[in-house]
Amino acid sequence: MASPMASTDGAEVLVASNRGPVSYDLREDGSLHARRGGGGLVSGLSAIGPDANAVWVCAALGDGDREAVRRAGGGRLPAEDTGGQQVRMLDIDADVFSDAYNGIANSVLWFVHHMLYQTPLEPVLDAEFRRQWASYQAYNRAFAEALAQEAAEGAVVVIQDYHLALAPRMLRRLRPDLRIGHFSHTPWAPPDYFRLLPDDIAAELLSGILGADHAAFLTRRWADAFVACCHAVLGPGIPSGETRIGVHGLGADADFLRKRSHEPDVDERMRALREEIGGEGRRTIVRVDRTELSKNIVRGLLAYRQLLDDHPEWRERVVHVAFAYPSRQDLAVYRDYTAEVRRVADEINAAYGTAGWTPVVLHVKDDFARSLAAYRLADVALVNPIRDGMNLVAKEIPVVSDEGCVLVLSREAGAYEELGEDAVVVNPYDIGGTAEALALALAMPAEERAERCKRLAAAATALSPAAWFLEQVEALGG
Ligand code: F6P
Repeated sequence: MASPMASTDGAEVLVASNRGPVSYDLREDGSLHARRGGGGLVSGLSAIGPDANAVWVCAALGDGDREAVRRAGGGRLPAEDTGGQQVRMLDIDADVFSDAYNGIANSVLWFVHHMLYQTPLEPVLDAEFRRQWASYQAYNRAFAEALAQEAAEGAVVVIQDYHLALAPRMLRRLRPDLRIGHFSHTPWAPPDYFRLLPDDIAAELLSGILGADHAAFLTRRWADAFVACCHAVLGPGIPSGETRIGVHGLGADADFLRKRSHEPDVDERMRALREEIGGEGRRTIVRVDRTELSKNIVRGLLAYRQLLDDHPEWRERVVHVAFAYPSRQDLAVYRDYTAEVRRVADEINAAYGTAGWTPVVLHVKDDFARSLAAYRLADVALVNPIRDGMNLVAKEIPVVSDEGCVLVLSREAGAYEELGEDAVVVNPYDIGGTAEALALALAMPAEERAERCKRLAAAATALSPAAWFLEQVEALGG
C-alpha cells in the first residue's frame, strides 16, 4: 500500500546533513551571496547524475542562510546557487538550532565520540543539558518531517552524522516504506566512555540510528564500537538483523585534487610559501587542519620543539608549515584552543628563530589554494589527531605532494586502518615519540619516501567519494 505521506513527484534519493552544499552571506546592502562548499558528499552526490531526482535536506546555519530560505519561500533554493542540485534548507528556530548544534552535537556528542572531556569536572549533564536535549529532538524531528514530505514511495534516504542520530527512527515511524541509511563521519566511543551519557539518552541515540536499515561507519573499529555500545546499553541481541552494519572508508578525490592543485592560483601560493620558508633546500613538515580540539595541533608543535632540541642539526634546515583554520568559534573552548595554538607557535619562533629562519609558519585564514600549495611542497605530513573518524588530509597530501612525502600518522585516526603500513605511526599523546618520528621522516632516503608515498596515494584513493556515496545507496538496494 502506498504511504499516505509519499509525495507523488517526490525524490528517489535523499541526503540529509546539518551542513549543506551551499551557504549564504547577507551583505550590508541586503544582497545575498551564495558560497558553494566541497567535500565528499558534494562530489559523491554528483556521481548519481543530474537526472537522478535527488534532494539534499540541510539546516540554515546563520542569518544569511535564513534569509535565503525566506526568499525561496521556505522551499528549495534557487538552482543557480547550488550548481543545479536540489537543496531544501530548513529554517529551524535559531535558538533550537544553537542548542542542538552547539549545545548537544558539538559540546556533548562530539566530545563523547572523540573522548575529549576533562572528566574530573565535565560533562555536567544537568537540567540545562536536558533542556538542550529537547532542542536536539526537535531539530531531528524537523529533518524527519521534511524528509517524509520530500520522499517518493520507497525512496532511498541517507542521513549523515551525529547531528542526526535520532532522525532515522523518527523518519521510519513517519514513512515505513522508505529505505533509510545512517552514516557516522566521527569515531564511535567505546562503551565505558559512551556510558558517560545518561542511560535513557544513550539508549535513545543508539535506537535512533537503529531506526535505519543500514548503519555505516568509516572504519571497522568505529563500527565495532557502535555494536559494543548497543550490546552494553540495549542488550546482547541488538542490533538484530533489521539493521545491517556497514563500513565504507571514504577516500580522497584523486582526479579533482590532481587537477585543482596545478591551477595557476596554487602555483602562485607556492611561490609565496617558498619565500616564507626561505633557505635553499629547507625541508617542510606540513599540517593542515580545522582548529579542532581533536586534531592535536598543540602537541604537534610541542613535538616539533622537541625535535629542534634533540636534533639541533635540523635547526635552520626545516620549517613547520601549520595551517589551522577557524572552526566552531561560537564555542569558547574552540576560541581558547585557537589562542593556545598561536601562543605556542609564537613561543617557538621567539625561542629558536634567527634572522633568516622562522621555525613555524602558521596561517589561520582559510585558503584552499594555499593548502594545496603546502600539500605539494610537503616533505613530511604531520597528522596526529588524538581521535579522528578518518582524516582526509592524511589521504590528500600523499596524492598531491610533488616529490613524495613521508606521512607521520596517529594510530588513533581512522585513516590508520588503510595507511598505517606505509606511514610512520605515532601515539598522539607521546611528544618524545612524535619528535623521533619526525626525525625519522626527515631523514628517510628519497627513494624509500617516494615508494611509500606511491603506496599511500593508491590506498588513499581506493574508494573515491563517488564510489563511497554509491556504496551507501546500493547498500539500501538503490
Ligand atoms: O567529522 C564530522 C563532520 O561533520 C565532518 O563531516 C565535517 O568535516 C566536520 O565535522 C564539520 O564540522 P562543522 O560543520 O561543525 O564545521
